[in-house]
Amino acid sequence: MAPPIRIAPSILSADFARLGEEVRAVEVGKADLIHVDVMDGLFVPNLTIGPPVVAALRKTTQLPLDVHLMIVDPARYIEEFVRAGASWISVHAEACTHLQRVLQQIKAAGAKPAVALNPATSLDVLDWVLEDVHMVLLMSVNPGFGGQAYLPQITRKVAELRGRIVRRGLDVEIEVDGGLKPENVGAVAQAGANVLVAGSSVFGAAGAGGDYAQPIARLRQAAQGR
Ligand code: DX5
Ligand code: ZN
Repeated sequence: MAPPIRIAPSILSADFARLGEEVRAVEVGKADLIHVDVMDGLFVPNLTIGPPVVAALRKTTQLPLDVHLMIVDPARYIEEFVRAGASWISVHAEACTHLQRVLQQIKAAGAKPAVALNPATSLDVLDWVLEDVHMVLLMSVNPGFGGQAYLPQITRKVAELRGRIVRRGLDVEIEVDGGLKPENVGAVAQAGANVLVAGSSVFGAAGAGGDYAQPIARLRQAAQGR
């Protein structure tokens, strides 16, 4: 059975001065996950937030926190993020020397392990870890910033990955992150992605005025081909 469509608003595009309200508003708007972008200024050319903000978010929402670590050597911080309340943790294959060990570490700490791949990274790096992950996160922009344009070649990458997962009889979710909008999300879901990150297309939705039910519903309907 295909995994359910999950809409994951990325708080990178939220109003940080009103972060609690913004997260509550997407929860009321029926988001499925809260996507939290952690950046260290080394793996990506931007700095964002760390465990104290994750801990504050944990007190604000019931939704699972989908923490996307864009940091070098993420093994150093896994336990701290899980203690802070991370429910799902994605680490970049490009940032881990011992990828399988880091995935074990995430699971042992009590979170769902996921591997993230930059747009130019081959799916082949997943060959020996696909059994060990809850999810694969395919970047559809070069990570670092919200509001970038979707890279169209990633649709084919999603389809190729879904094929590999099915051929191996596995049950792995596919998350796509970057540049998703109602106009392109249908094809991405059709290709086999089910977790859809949306930063600017939720928090930047024109006229939303803090009511995010509509942009979230539009994304979900487009993903479900409606
Ligand atoms: C980019 C981040 C994304 C980003 C998505 O490095 O990983 O999660 O916030 O933002 P949009 O949806 O605006 O491309
Ligand atoms: Zn992200």
